[in-house]
Amino acid sequence: MRKLNNILITGGAGFIGVNFIRYLLGESKQKSGFNGRIINLDALTYAGNIASLNEVEKKYTNGNYFFIHGDICVRSLIEEIFDKYDIDTIVHFAAESHVDRSILGPEAFIKTNFNGTFTLLDVARSRWKERDDTLFHHVSTDEVYGSLGETGYFTENTPYDPRSPYSASKAASDHLVMSYYHTFNLPITLSNCSNNYGPYQFPEKLIPLMINNMLEGKPLPVYGDGKNIRDWLYVEDHNIAVWEIMQKGRAGEKYNIGGENEWENIKLLDKLIDIVAEKSKTAPDKIRATITYVKDRAGHDRRYAIDCTKIKNELKWKQTVDFETGLKKTVDWYLSNSNWINQIKSGEYQKWIDKNYIKR
Ligand code: NAD
Ligand code: DAU
Repeated sequence: MRKLNNILITGGAGFIGVNFIRYLLGESKQKSGFNGRIINLDALTYAGNIASLNEVEKKYTNGNYFFIHGDICVRSLIEEIFDKYDIDTIVHFAAESHVDRSILGPEAFIKTNFNGTFTLLDVARSRWKERDDTLFHHVSTDEVYGSLGETGYFTENTPYDPRSPYSASKAASDHLVMSYYHTFNLPITLSNCSNNYGPYQFPEKLIPLMINNMLEGKPLPVYGDGKNIRDWLYVEDHNIAVWEIMQKGRAGEKYNIGGENEWENIKLLDKLIDIVAEKSKTAPDKIRATITYVKDRAGHDRRYAIDCTKIKNELKWKQTVDFETGLKKTVDWYLSNSNWINQIKSGEYQKWIDKNYIKR
């Protein structure tokens, strides 16, 4: 088992990163056992919300947790962080992550997802030359594999076939990560996960968007015929898998992570409506009447489904949160954190960042 001490977490103010940091620091139900230092580097784009870690920042001022407001593309900053904090591990979450935005404007995706990953890899290569206790873990997506028909699953050997600028930028970064292993012997691990859901997810993604629209009585926009299929995994289960790989995964290997939990979008929405209706004491039919079929997403992948036998067999990881429970927890979280959503929507949060954090 690897001993990981000074971990640079990129994108630690985003949805999965926030949950990962809370998990590592022992702030969630499942315990990681980690007792080293965390350096959280995040550019606080529209998707990053450092307010999600307010209590963590207050509680861990004793030298276990540091936040740096900065961009992964700035090489001099990454070098400075490596030297100052003696970084031995990177877990790389930072990315532009929303497919629809990549269709509207691909450039930021190439910059952050490809160039940013390159910068991190290259600094790690230069700083870790004389060491044998280091690891670069790259967090990626099942979307690199393209789209499935009615049957079959993505395995780690499925050829890459990305269809959106988002998935193409992630696929390119995966290849770069692998190339640094083969060419420079940089110790890397890589994971490709399916759709995550849970607390702190930006309300542009399907589940939080639908929950919030239901609570506000707004239309529920379903793309195309609503029959596209995604595989859903509770965010904490993803993070436990990432942590397992970081500690025990074989260098140079990639691992698929998934929920084994496929849902047509429209059927998922139906289930979510029942949960929100019950918890908000609204008639389900009143919510159902707001379902609105809209123009399909360009290049919309039809079906994703993950074969995660490898991580299950090799690292003994398994999902712990079933879909019903996970969705209920998620709805409860959004119901009791309306401030979080309101801050994001009003722009107040951005003003607060500008006042409190200097960007490097
Ligand atoms: P997110 O959009 O919620 O968060 C991304 C974070 O990265 C934000 O805090 C943002 O400020 C930060 N960031 C963006 N550009 C940056 C830059 N140039 N420098 C520093 N920080 C920057 O994304 P997420 O859903 O938490 O996804 C995290 C990672 O997991 C991504 O790499 C994504 O591709 C991958 N992933 C996501 C899912 C999912 O369902 N959300 C599934 C599989 C894989
Ligand atoms: O599979 C992993 C990927 O999952 C991650 O790599 C991405 O970062 C993450 O954003 C997610 O991508 P998707 O495109 O699958 O997620 P999204 O929530 O945008 O959409 C899920 C499905 O719901 C998809 O088929 C499109 C559909 N959809 C989405 C939105 C936002 C709608 O029908 N209506 C909507 O308003």
